[in-house]
Amino acid sequence: MFLLSKRGLLLLLPVLMLIISCGGDLNDNTVVLAVGGAPSEIDFWEKTASECEEKTGIKLQLIRQPTDTDQRRQNLVTSLRARKSTPDIFLMDVAWIAQFAASEWLEPLEPYMKKHNLPVESFFEPVVRQADTYNDKLIALPVYVDGGLLYYRKDLLQKYGYSGPPATWDELVSCALKITEEERKKNRNFTGFVWQGAQYEGLVCNFLEFASSNNGGIVLSESQPVFDTEQNRKAVKFMRDLIHTHKLSPSNTYTNMKEEEVRLVFQNGNALFERNWPYAWKIHQASDSPVKNKTGVSLLPHFEGGKPAAALGGWHIGLSRFSKNKENAFTCIDYILSSEVQTEFVTSLGWNSGRVDIYDNVEVQKTIPHAEILKNVFRHAVTRPLVPHYSYMSSVLQRYLNAVMAGRMELDKAFTECESELGKIVSQYSNQ
Ligand code: GLC
Repeated sequence: MFLLSKRGLLLLLPVLMLIISCGGDLNDNTVVLAVGGAPSEIDFWEKTASECEEKTGIKLQLIRQPTDTDQRRQNLVTSLRARKSTPDIFLMDVAWIAQFAASEWLEPLEPYMKKHNLPVESFFEPVVRQADTYNDKLIALPVYVDGGLLYYRKDLLQKYGYSGPPATWDELVSCALKITEEERKKNRNFTGFVWQGAQYEGLVCNFLEFASSNNGGIVLSESQPVFDTEQNRKAVKFMRDLIHTHKLSPSNTYTNMKEEEVRLVFQNGNALFERNWPYAWKIHQASDSPVKNKTGVSLLPHFEGGKPAAALGGWHIGLSRFSKNKENAFTCIDYILSSEVQTEFVTSLGWNSGRVDIYDNVEVQKTIPHAEILKNVFRHAVTRPLVPHYSYMSSVLQRYLNAVMAGRMELDKAFTECESELGKIVSQYSNQ
């Protein structure tokens, strides 16, 4: 057995102490960033990470997460609950920032921003105020903002004599019934309308859009959720009818359909309409895309008497309170949020930067020909309740909405039970 002499031990002591004081992080030139998304987005993060290292000398190491927001949250919650020092920085869905802030996992950013000369005015004020501020402290910054859009096959609408995309849901149904009947003769896989109906956060976003476009939605009135309304029932019935009655949305809508599954159906030329976020545009326009130059973008339709609605989504960057490398970590945040990188986010990925100055850039204006539509989308944006217990509310909504979509539960029962469960969650957390 190998035994150290007293003298050997004394010589090793400083090294051991250094290891202990670093908590095992020997290389404090490395910052760990957790990101997720579509494969093209991950590729882009890889490129950004190596450019960051060239510019700042700090190694930006990526933890690659899936696309699904719920899985990404779970992943981070596990590390943060255990007070792990990595990831140092991470992207957060706007839907869970309040939970992370209330759990005190986020380092306030203002002192770092002052040192780095990064003014908060560089970002959209309402976004920063509503999503990134908690107890008067700035605890995150927007990397990009999202809103739901309707993508449509402009070549097919034209072929069948339509002058533009549908403004109402009834128009969407009648147009899709007519075109799918014809197109299915050539392509048995052709479908009318693909959207996110699987049991996950995206379903809640889709529900919010259908419901808000019928003057409904989820309102917290005196802290109690109002969900069981005529407007919401009509919207959910319509979602179910798209699958089961009109048969315009495929039956795997409620089992499989998340962002990327939906995008692929449309991208392969197998759908007339698609509901997705702005990221899908650049991928549909890629040189090898079967729907390149055949895709139009518009506001989502609405019910008679309602108006178009878009769920407000987006991803924000935060610095872990448990990071042992906060200065370097903020240098990486500063780099990611620089005009240079943010412009590239828009031109390469079609993301809507959270920075205000980007939109004056001519390159950006050329990349997003539907910039005017996007402006309108954000004008019609509806937020999910920005409360720390939102994820619990969402998991209840996901379960009931999905059960209705799958035809496993009657509408009446789902609405009554869901509202009561939501009420319990809100009472439990508001009294804490
Ligand atoms: C997008 C949105 C995010 C939303 C998610 C739902 O990533 O940016 O806010 O929660 O989709 O799937």
